[in-house]
Amino acid sequence: MSDKVKVTIDGIAVEVAPGTTILNAARQIGGDIVPPAMCYYSKLEGSGGKCRTCLVKVSKGSENDPRPMPKLVASCRTTVMDGMEVENITSPEVVEARKGVVEMLLINHPLDCPVCDQAGECSLQDLGFEHGAAQTRYEFDRRTFERIDIGDKIQLHMNRCILCYRCTYVADQLTDGRCHGVIGRGDHAEISTYIEKAVDNDYSGNMIDVCPVGALTDKTFRFKNRVWFTKPVDAHRDCPTCSGKVTLWYKGEEVIRVTARKDQYNEVEEFICNTCRFDKKSTSDWVIEGPTAIRHDSVISSNHYETLKPLPVIQKNEKLIEANLEQFQKTQKD
Ligand code: SF4
Ligand code: FES
Repeated sequence: MSDKVKVTIDGIAVEVAPGTTILNAARQIGGDIVPPAMCYYSKLEGSGGKCRTCLVKVSKGSENDPRPMPKLVASCRTTVMDGMEVENITSPEVVEARKGVVEMLLINHPLDCPVCDQAGECSLQDLGFEHGAAQTRYEFDRRTFERIDIGDKIQLHMNRCILCYRCTYVADQLTDGRCHGVIGRGDHAEISTYIEKAVDNDYSGNMIDVCPVGALTDKTFRFKNRVWFTKPVDAHRDCPTCSGKVTLWYKGEEVIRVTARKDQYNEVEEFICNTCRFDKKSTSDWVIEGPTAIRHDSVISSNHYETLKPLPVIQKNEKLIEANLEQFQKTQKD
């Protein structure tokens, strides 16, 4: 008997291990049908379930119980069942709901991309570009906060935070003490450093890499450049603390930033230590491996950068989209 379960996502079938989430099953298929994820992070235990950007429709629960799930579900938190059928980009209802989620996330997020260091690498910017509306329906003032230094190398700009909790999981799981968390609830919720207590653990800089927006930024890089004017290069060093595998971001001959290497889902491949990130900014500190592969649709590729990763195969099921659209329009009329 097979120890795998079969799930169909947007008409594409895949067999995965029991207990796999819909999101990870979709990642095994790859391409356009993978739901966006602003809070889930495969390397951080317990992450997910906060932002709702990964919503999908389960049109068939399982082989044994084919009833559809009554509401859209968070794909990062819902595990697959054998025979399950899921709709993501083929469901107009999901696309509509995702628009709503983006609108919600942008209620308090300032549209300051022109001055934000995360511009060009921001998941919310990408999501807003795909699903955002040109205008807001929100009539109240956005929440504003003073900037806070978390130690001498990291700055928290809470105005931009979408409360995905990723940085708090980093603080919990990679650092020794819990001096960084979420306090308050609802509109009052905010990331706190508990009276600006510095996070001085060797791995605290990873909070910057996991932040999907520009709320946590590297003070050694702030306002130095726009990411699309830089040239990323893979490099490594023999580091006693971490793997030492990083991306160096060059402006001319100068290394202006060091980050962990990121995969196609914008997640770090391996967490790096603060010494590699903040203290090793000379080319002589590193063994250069070569230019970092960049996705074709990344803004960094606009800098005529040579090594471009081919885009994942576009797997759209036009017939399914059409059928679901008809069904959706009918339910809207009823
Ligand atoms: S500061 Fe960034 S990583 Fe932390 S909760 Fe806010 S958005 Fe998420
Ligand atoms: S990625 Fe699933 S809820 Fe945020």
